[in-house]
Parts: sequence; C-alpha cells; structure tokens
Amino acid sequence: MVGIDQVLEKLSTVIDPDLKQDIVSMGMIKDLELDDDKLKFTLELTTPACPFNVEIEDDVRKVVGELPDLKSFDMNVTAKVMEGRSLDEDTGMATVKNIVGVASGKGGVGKSTVSLNLALALSQTGAKVGLLDADIYGPSIPLMLGMKDGYMQVEDNKLQPAEANGLKVVSFGFFAEQSHQAAIYRGPIISGILKQFLVDTDWSDLDYLIVDLPPGTGDIPLTLAQTIPITGILVVTTPQDVASNVAVKAIGMFEKLNVPIIGVVENMSHFVCPNCDDKHYIFGAGGAKKISEQFKMPFLGEIPLNSGIMSGSDLGKPIMMTNPDSPSAEAFRLSAKNIAAQCSILAAKLRQETESKEASDDSAKESAATIKTQTSS
Ligand SMILES: Nc1ncnc2c1ncn2[C@@H]1O[C@H](COP(=O)(O)OP(=O)(O)OP(=O)(O)O)[C@@H](O)[C@H]1O
Ligand SMILES: [Mg+2]
Repeated sequence: MVGIDQVLEKLSTVIDPDLKQDIVSMGMIKDLELDDDKLKFTLELTTPACPFNVEIEDDVRKVVGELPDLKSFDMNVTAKVMEGRSLDEDTGMATVKNIVGVASGKGGVGKSTVSLNLALALSQTGAKVGLLDADIYGPSIPLMLGMKDGYMQVEDNKLQPAEANGLKVVSFGFFAEQSHQAAIYRGPIISGILKQFLVDTDWSDLDYLIVDLPPGTGDIPLTLAQTIPITGILVVTTPQDVASNVAVKAIGMFEKLNVPIIGVVENMSHFVCPNCDDKHYIFGAGGAKKISEQFKMPFLGEIPLNSGIMSGSDLGKPIMMTNPDSPSAEAFRLSAKNIAAQCSILAAKLRQETESKEASDDSAKESAATIKTQTSS
C-alpha cells in the first residue's frame, strides 16, 4: 500500500514554473490525508491569479495517477497570496500583503487606466484588492470609476476607503472640497497626504494594493519608495517612450532606491483590427521588450490602443467591467496574472532571505552561548 512519504516524494516532482521550486517544499500541499487507498489534500496556490494554475493542477493529477494502489483521489484547489513585503507592525500597513506602484517616465502613457483595469482584473480572480490614487495634484481614478466626491469617511481616526466594483479605493478626488479644484501644495504637504493615505487608512486585509503614481520621479514616487516597504514598481511605457528614453529615467530612480522593478507593461502597444483580429503595431513593435531586456526585468504584457478603453474611462465605466470578453480586457487579465506571478516570485525571495537571516541569527546566538559557557566554565 502507498505511504505518505511516497505521496510527498511524487508530489515534490511537480515544479511551480514561476517559482522554480517544488510544490511540497513551497508548502503548497495542505491537509493531506491518506486513508488506505484514498488520498485527499488541498493544493494552495500562491495567488488566485496564478498564470500556471491549470498546468500545476494537471501535473499534480498526472503524478498522483502514477501512484500504485490508489482507489480515490480528491484535490481541493485554493489560493493564499504570499507576502511580497515585510509586514512590520511598526511601519504600518501590516494587513496589506503586496504593494505595487505603477510608474512611468512621462505623463499620459495610461498609468491610471492600467492601474484601474489591472486592479479590477486581479479582483476578478478572487483576490482582495485596493487602489490608491497617489496622483494628488491631478487625481483621475474617481472619474474613471464614475464617482465624484464625498465617498471617503473618517472613523476612529482612520480613513475609510470607498468601495467600487469590489475594490477599496482611496483618492484625493473623493474629498468634496478638492474634487473640482487643482491641488496647489508644496512637496512636503503632498508627501504628508500620501503618507496618511498609506498608513492612516483602514485598508483591512488586502492581497494587492495598486498605487497609481503621477508621472516622473518627483516627491510622490519618492515618498512611496521611502515610507513603507513595497513589493515593487510596475513601469508603464508606450512605444514612443523607447526613443525618448523617459522610461529609463524612472527605472533608474527606483533602482537607486533599491525598490524592485516588477516589470514593464506596454500600453497603446498595438491596434487590434476589429474585422480580422490581427494586431497592427502602428508605432513600431518590441519597444518595451527592448527596455525590459536592457534592464533585465520581466516584460509583463501589452495593452492595445482601443477607443473602448478611452471612452470607458471617460464615462466612468472601465472596460474590465463593461466588456470583459474584449481583447483589451483579455490583455489586462494576462498582464494582471503576470504581475501576480512576479509578486509571488518576490515574496518567495523575501521568505528565503528572512529564513536564512533567522538561521544565521540563531547560529550567531548559539555560538555566543557556547563562548559564554566556555568563558564561565
Ligand atoms: N490602451 C488605451 N487605448 C486608448 N486610450 C487609452 C489607453 N490607455 C489610456 N488611454 C487614454 O489615454 C489618456 C491618458 O490615460 P491615463 O490618464 O490613464 O494616463 P496617465 O499616465 O495616468 O496620465 P497622467 O500622467 O496624467 O497621470 C486617457 O484619455 C485614457 O483614456
Ligand atoms: Mg494618471
């Protein structure tokens, strides 16, 4: 009769293609029960947006099928998002597992559009998602969601995010007195507002917080990078950015600050012909890929240029909600999965670093204790 060790040995031949580690040592097998010839366990993926969920499940079924003498097999598939940032009570935001800043070198490349639709795509996989509009000078998320002002309240000294399409949303544009005016503040005040939005907001438990940044390398991206640990930065480019080199400057700033770059998404990348579904790269192909290769960071997707994306934003009806079957929505979904996978990779790296630090702290304590014993004896 097959034993637990044999089952685990077989399961450990299944490798998560993103994490490049086996599913047993990653702790993805839970509640394993082997009752004579009946096997039951839970496969816990590292994100509900896992791009390889079907592949991993198929591999598991295949290897379990190779075990002898099994009469029944029951697999429950769930997901628990890994922590892609250090959740330290002292720095706040200890209930937010991943924070992803969305940045660009220049304005108007579609950061807000991409942030919102990616947040929705992640949320539609079942993840708990928040969206922070960090463009305090020119908040655009409320308009893109068809919301104006008065949505955010303060309770117990904490800002309560607005709720929209399953997202928890915070924006300066929700403040009644600000919604029709441009914010005219100096840098330190703007930084203070962003800090409050980050740490004084009741985000509750979130798997992913997407932070829509203003363009460039000013006070706000700097404040985000320096206030709390974040998982990383997603860089949005357009095909034109390659020539002007602006994306490169933004990447350089975050690299200098030791903030990981999650990868690049190219927006307005191509046009999908409505008649033949062919992709036309009207501004030239492969620009963002070139940048990602130059900086050795992942290329995470290309979003088509589509009037439906623009009109949806203008009308407060994001394309992920109004036309989820369109090629544009599919492109956002694919990019969202790739981003979630990169967050899991960074989380696994963080976990490894923490474990090896704990191990070296333990061995330092042990050798200190030995020295003490030797000295006192
Ligand atoms: N893929 C797309 N196809 C068509 N229009 C798009 C696409 N992405 C964004 N847009 C449009 O481009 C304009 C700029 O987009 P958006 O406001 O998201 O850019 P941004 O980078 O956030 O700008 P800013 O730097 O000012 O914050 C908007 O009108 C938006 O609807
Ligand atoms: Mg914007």
